[in-house]
Order: sequence, then C-alpha cells, then structure tokens
Amino acid sequence: MRAEPVPVAVLISGGGSNLAAILEAGRSPDCPYRVAVVASNRPDAGGLAHAVAAGVPVEVIDHRPFAGDRASHEREIDARLRAHGVELVVLAGYMRVLTPWLVERWAGRMLNIHPSLLPKYPGLDTHARAIAAGDAEAGCTVHLVTAGVDEGPVLDQARVPVLANDTPESLAARVLAAEHQLYPKVLARLAAGLAPDA
Ligand code: GRF
Repeated sequence: MRAEPVPVAVLISGGGSNLAAILEAGRSPDCPYRVAVVASNRPDAGGLAHAVAAGVPVEVIDHRPFAGDRASHEREIDARLRAHGVELVVLAGYMRVLTPWLVERWAGRMLNIHPSLLPKYPGLDTHARAIAAGDAEAGCTVHLVTAGVDEGPVLDQARVPVLANDTPESLAARVLAAEHQLYPKVLARLAAGLAPDA
C-alpha cells in the first residue's frame, strides 16, 4: 500500500447518502483513499452539503449550458477531476449516462453502485421489479464502469431479504443501508490495490 491515500472524486446528482458514507469512512486515519473533490451535474444536489461540511472541494458542472453536447460536458468533467489529481472516480447516484470516451479514459478506475444484484435488473425501478418478480433476495452491486450501462465487471455485492409486506420504498431503504456499508469497503479495497506509481 502507498504511504499517501489515493485521491478520489465522487460524482453525484442527488442526495448523496453514499457520498456521506464514503466521506465518513474516509475519516479513519488508515483509510487508503481520500475524497479530493465532489462533482455534481446539478447545482441543487443535496449531497453537495456533505462535501462542504467535510471541507472537500466541490465542482458543479451543470450539464444544461452544454445543451446536449455530452462530449464537451464530459471534457469539462475530465479536466476538473484531473486538476484535483484524482486517480479513481466514484459514481454515487450520478444520473447521467456517460459516453464511451469518458468511460475509456478512466477504464478500471471508475466504479458505480447499482441497487440490484446485477446482472438482474439493470436500469431503473429495480426494487419494484424485484418485488414484482417475487424475489426472496435483493441487494446492491459495486462494479467497474464500462460503456454498457450497469454492465461492467462486478467487484462485490451485498444481499438483503425481501420481506412479505415490502413496498419499493421499504426495500429501497434496506438496500440503501447495505450500499452505505458496501461502497466504502469496495472503494478502500480498490484504492489499497492501486500500484504506487499509478
Ligand atoms: C443509490 O440507490 C444508488 O444505488 C443509485 O443511486 C442512488 C443514490 O443514492 N446509483 P444517494 O444519492 O447516494 O443517496
């Protein structure tokens, strides 16, 4: 492991409860990563407050002024992350599909959390779909990001039971609690395994 923690960026669009869990675990003195920047495509993302409270720099890169020009928006994201010396990119509720250009620039160094046991239920409404299918188990998956949405290699998963009276909301809350345990752990593992001269 390296002497210095690996600088990571967390990308959000919303409430940022996973970001909060990642920041919290990052406070431990032996944590192998540090959150160097939090970036959001939405100026009103609630999660930005977690970054500010933790004294972490914030970059708001609003997609709207780019008017559908995804390539330019992503070049801006990439430039800002690199300006912070970032080595790993963590998608935590970042609600825009990335182009292959950005994904390839961070190949093997960009991870995402998805609220299902992939390969089951990529995309949206995962909890309603798990309940409708009568699944006994649900959960979340941390995976490397590749060009195919929710398709990259799985790094780890956490499982929770689906209870008889579950609604999509009650199941989502149970899965989210599992996400908060899983994501910092997988990120720390990945950071600890990065080559010293990476
Ligand atoms: C989580 O359910 C995550 O799995 C999905 O987006 C949600 C983000 O929640 N990718 P939060 O913003 O971290 O609270």
